Amino acid sequence: MTDWQKTDWRKKPRVQMPAYTDPAALAAVEARLASYPPLVFAGEARKLTKQLAAVSRGEAFLLQGGDCAESFAEFSANGIRDTFKVLLQMAMVLTYGAKVPVVKVGRMAGQMAKPRSAPTETFDGVELPSYRGDIINGFDFTPEARNPDPDRMLQAYLQAAATLNLLRAFSTGGFANVHEVHKWTLGFTDANEVKKYSDMASRISDTLDFMQAAGLSTDTNHELQTVDFYTSHEALLLEYEEALCRLDSTSGKMLAGSGHMIWIGDRTRQPDGAHVEFCKGVMNPIGLKCGPSMTSGHLKALMASLNPGNEPGRLTLIARFGAGQVGDHLPRLVRAVQEEGANVVWTCDAMHGNTIKSSTGYKTRPFESVLREVKEFFGVHNAEGTIPGGVHFEMTGADVTECTGGVRAVTDEDLSDRYHTACDPRLNASQSLELAFLVAEELSARRNKLAQAKAS
Ligand code: PEP
Ligand code: CO
Repeated sequence: MTDWQKTDWRKKPRVQMPAYTDPAALAAVEARLASYPPLVFAGEARKLTKQLAAVSRGEAFLLQGGDCAESFAEFSANGIRDTFKVLLQMAMVLTYGAKVPVVKVGRMAGQMAKPRSAPTETFDGVELPSYRGDIINGFDFTPEARNPDPDRMLQAYLQAAATLNLLRAFSTGGFANVHEVHKWTLGFTDANEVKKYSDMASRISDTLDFMQAAGLSTDTNHELQTVDFYTSHEALLLEYEEALCRLDSTSGKMLAGSGHMIWIGDRTRQPDGAHVEFCKGVMNPIGLKCGPSMTSGHLKALMASLNPGNEPGRLTLIARFGAGQVGDHLPRLVRAVQEEGANVVWTCDAMHGNTIKSSTGYKTRPFESVLREVKEFFGVHNAEGTIPGGVHFEMTGADVTECTGGVRAVTDEDLSDRYHTACDPRLNASQSLELAFLVAEELSARRNKLAQAKAS
């Protein structure tokens, strides 16, 4: 794509982006960001693309999760560590239970800009712009906080850089060593899932001891001591994305330097719009949210524009229809992909189609609906003979009460106890583990069926 320019999106219709009121202040921030180092490197984006290509062939599984919106206020080393821990635990459950390598991608280190269903909110007769994520404006319901402030981009960049720094240290500095598998259990979780997890961890430790005794050294093996962990976020705030674009001298292509993988939201995927235009030209793996209004025609146009070379691993389709609706929408899109012979990863966001208002007034997601959507996603792929490649969800390592249900049965009344999210309700650590066990079961059942079909 030689004639693509990182500024081309500016000529296209844009939605869900703030109207900054001080162009000089905005330009100054953009210039500073453009002079800062990128957060990720082209070689890493290429490596992730390669791993996602394996996912598209059914040789690996994608686990993508983290905050709905990272906030400035909740930014802390412990928060990052706990979310990372839960993702590692989930990945271990999937690797051990389903015998499949897991590609680990956090909704972390840059997930700070949010699309909203309404541009304004009204409280007690006062109407103000909606909160759009800490990179854009503030959560407090005051005119000052809600005014979009470009300086927030600098704060967001610094937070993303510090988050990524810690994630890199955790991934390679000993914390993610498989010999530590027992220590990843979080102190406060005492549920069934944790017992299941520690039983599994004991079996893994036994296996490692056995390998060691048999002369296969496990404590110097790089693969067992470190993990590849990638970052991702919705590429919503295009001024920020453009300013962090860098030329990859090896390939001559442009890299979105803000994160390893970026995605296009369900509200910003207009084939002729600014967000698609931006993502078209960068070399990173791209995610595309597919909600109920996505037609086969839209999808075909988007695949042609986002992945004209049909490169495996480049495009991940993130299905988010809501429990009970997967069967109405996913089959037509799966068939559109098959008709085009397109190489894609199919993954299931079981969160965004399942948001409801609880009887106590909180925005929540029933855990049963989340599980059901995942099952329906697997069901459609099993029926169509295509590959369910991964799961995408909003979670935190903190012991929050934001989604109802789960083994420790959070009720509508419990939601007020520890409801901390800056945006959508997230799964807590034990709900996340429960989900991982369910996905591992689905994957092993599928594996057994495929093996049986092959043998007969
Ligand atoms: C999100 O992933 O946080 C999000 C807003 O999703 P969607 O675009 O699918 O609604
Ligand atoms: Co969300």
